[in-house]
Amino acid sequence: MSDFFDLVNQRESCRNYQPDHRPSKEQLIRCIEAARLAPSACNSQPWSFIVVNSEEKSACVAKACQYAGINKFTSNCPAFIVICEEPAVLMSGKVNQKYAQMDIGIATAHLCFAATQQGLSTCIMGSFDQQTLLDALNIHEEKLVRLVLAVGFDAGDKLRPKRRKAVEEIMTYLD
Ligand SMILES: Cc1cc2nc3c(=O)[nH]c(=O)nc-3n(C[C@H](O)[C@H](O)[C@H](O)COP(=O)(O)O)c2cc1C
Repeated sequence: MSDFFDLVNQRESCRNYQPDHRPSKEQLIRCIEAARLAPSACNSQPWSFIVVNSEEKSACVAKACQYAGINKFTSNCPAFIVICEEPAVLMSGKVNQKYAQMDIGIATAHLCFAATQQGLSTCIMGSFDQQTLLDALNIHEEKLVRLVLAVGFDAGDKLRPKRRKAVEEIMTYLD
């Protein structure tokens, strides 16, 4: 898929994965490569990524995501990318916001588009049990996991219509 707008239309949150169809290591590394190239405030790159692509470890991540009875679909998802926030070194004097979460959001969008481009499906998850995740993956206690991305192959075949606000509702155009 080469057209950016096709890619944008193709990407949707997948909550129905083929449990036995695992993405390849190369595909997942391509996703990380795209995230690595994302812009960030002062080029601070305040992120790191833990790629989980094994039956045993993926089951642990799925358990952590099934926090408060949600994200049950993760049981069938073969792989995950755990997105952590790292300390940001910013140019002093030019900083009037905390940018790390914005930067991570942009990097996560890059992950999703790189996955879609390769025929993979994703679902961003912001709800998970932080401690269960840290324990399961032996992540340092002080690390902050911001998002978990489910990655795999869609078990369905049809794109859902997008439910979005209209352009007129969200845009003010001044000319
Ligand atoms: C920061 C963030 C957190 C999200 N957390 C979850 C989640 O925990 N579980 C889930 O099923 N979807 C989650 N989503 C997916 C949204 O529900 C989804 O992107 C939105 O409904 C639009 O649908 P689409 O992605 O299919 O276009 C999250 C999305 C974002 C950006």
